[in-house]
Amino acid sequence: MRSRIGTSMLLIFLFVQIYSVSALTNGLDASALQSLKAEWTRFPVSWEGSDPCGTKWVGITCSDDHVVSISLGHLNLEGKLSWDITALAELQILDLSYNIGLSGSLPPNIGDLKKLRNLILVGCSFSGQIPESVGSLEQLEYLSLNSNQFSGTIPASIGRLSKLYWFDISDNQIEGNIPVSNGTSSPGLDMLHETKHFHFGNNKLSGDIPEKLFSSNMTLIHVLFDNNRFTGKIPDSLSLVKALTILRLDVNKLSGDIPSGLNNLTNLEYLHLANNRFTGSLPILSSLASLNSLDVSNNTLDMSPIPSWISSLHMLKILNMEGIQLVGPIPFFLFSHIQLQIVNLKCNRINETLDFGTINSSQLKYVDLQYNNITDYKPPTNKRIKVILANNPVWREVGNERKYVQQSITNAHLFYRPKKLFFL
Ligand SMILES: *[C@@H]1O[C@H](CO)[C@@H](O)[C@H](O)[C@H]1NC(C)=O
Ligand SMILES: *[C@@H]1O[C@H](CO)[C@@H](O)[C@H](O)[C@H]1NC(C)=O
Ligand SMILES: *[C@@H]1O[C@H](CO)[C@@H](O)[C@H](O)[C@H]1NC(C)=O
Ligand SMILES: *[C@@H]1O[C@H](CO)[C@@H](O)[C@H](O)[C@H]1NC(C)=O
Ligand SMILES: *[C@@H]1O[C@H](CO)[C@@H](O)[C@H](O)[C@H]1NC(C)=O
Ligand SMILES: *[C@@H]1O[C@H](CO)[C@@H](O)[C@H](O)[C@H]1NC(C)=O
Ligand SMILES: *[C@@H]1O[C@H](CO)[C@@H](O)[C@H](O)[C@H]1NC(C)=O
Repeated sequence: MRSRIGTSMLLIFLFVQIYSVSALTNGLDASALQSLKAEWTRFPVSWEGSDPCGTKWVGITCSDDHVVSISLGHLNLEGKLSWDITALAELQILDLSYNIGLSGSLPPNIGDLKKLRNLILVGCSFSGQIPESVGSLEQLEYLSLNSNQFSGTIPASIGRLSKLYWFDISDNQIEGNIPVSNGTSSPGLDMLHETKHFHFGNNKLSGDIPEKLFSSNMTLIHVLFDNNRFTGKIPDSLSLVKALTILRLDVNKLSGDIPSGLNNLTNLEYLHLANNRFTGSLPILSSLASLNSLDVSNNTLDMSPIPSWISSLHMLKILNMEGIQLVGPIPFFLFSHIQLQIVNLKCNRINETLDFGTINSSQLKYVDLQYNNITDYKPPTNKRIKVILANNPVWREVGNERKYVQQSITNAHLFYRPKKLFFL
């Protein structure tokens, strides 16, 4: 009896010895990946055997006997994310993007992955609160949780991620305020001085955009807060973020004056403020020499002529000024922009003559002046330019739909969604 126990102990001992000699994956990492696989109802076909590093499981990269990267985009995976994944002590990259079948919540202890640099879960079906412990991922540079079903609030702890470069939570159901710091014990997103990208669009974020959020120490280039429920004014501090190239605040409930300090953001390429409740008059934005696309449509601005500073925006390609009480004639300089492609001035009170006499742009393709008070029309010589003049006196008089109403161009051209261009 004693010798039989002795023999089987020896066999176990030998087995462990042989196993650890022949396997290229350390035991903890191997079992963490087995747990991951066990929670998935669809997993990669090559995930067979017990030695992921040795038998080269697809998507797994090892260094020595440790798993350092899991990269499994577009593999039609299905199931939940095993909490045991946090045992992968050396993991630097976790990318499970575009597996719509991956669902459930993230492990609450995901912050244990102390070496994680990239957490990329774009286009899956993950849900629930973003764990507070994400703020313990000290090495994190990329946090891309966009296009999932996350709910709850933005964890204030994310403010502790001093290396964070990319922060994308767009296209989720995230609600509540943007957290800002208060003293040393309570962190906030204003501390993210290395972050270049705040992509928060298409959520349910609300409250004021805090004045404290922005400072001259920030290096943000993209602030995308569109399609949320923000209220209050644009914080004046925003004009301190000098590197900004894309600012999207469109489709919110923002109010008050559009701050004149925006004219200090001289690197801006896209400025989209449409569909809010801004009042007052447009500030002078003549310093925005790199501006490609300006959209201030659908705000309750004061009556004003088409601003003359538009003539300084030499890079302007797309101009959207729909429904903002523009009055008076179209100034001669408007169509002298070399780059200009699309002009939407619908639903204003622009009057007198639309004269395409001096078009300098060979790019111009679409001019929408529906619902204005244009009484005379001198068409462009370039017949490829679509001009929409429906519901103007000149259109009613001539009554020639084919001549003045050509709507063959799609709205996709009209409303750029720059966000889509900047997927990781
Ligand atoms: C910041 O902390 C102080 C003291 O704890 C508190 O009185 C104050 O309300 C806090 N401010 C915010 C914005 O949370
Ligand atoms: C900006 O950085 C400087 C130098 O690191 C620091 O003294 C200052 O407090 C920072 N300001 C803000 C608003 O964080
Ligand atoms: C904008 O820049 C000008 C000149 O540099 C400066 O005087 C002004 O205070 C700035 N405005 C804001 C709101 O930062
Ligand atoms: C302005 O509002 C109208 C009506 O809600 C909407 O159809 C249109 O797309 C808006 N225009 C822009 C440029 O967002
Ligand atoms: C065009 O509109 C402006 C501003 O409302 C007005 O002053 C001007 O008289 C109008 N022009 C004509 C020809 O009615
Ligand atoms: C546009 O063309 C007109 C005449 O054809 C010219 O006088 C003007 O300088 C041009 N404008 C630009 C910005 O090139
Ligand atoms: C259009 O212009 C006419 C005369 O130029 C003026 O009587 C009318 O009130 C204007 N309509 C609007 C909506 O501004």
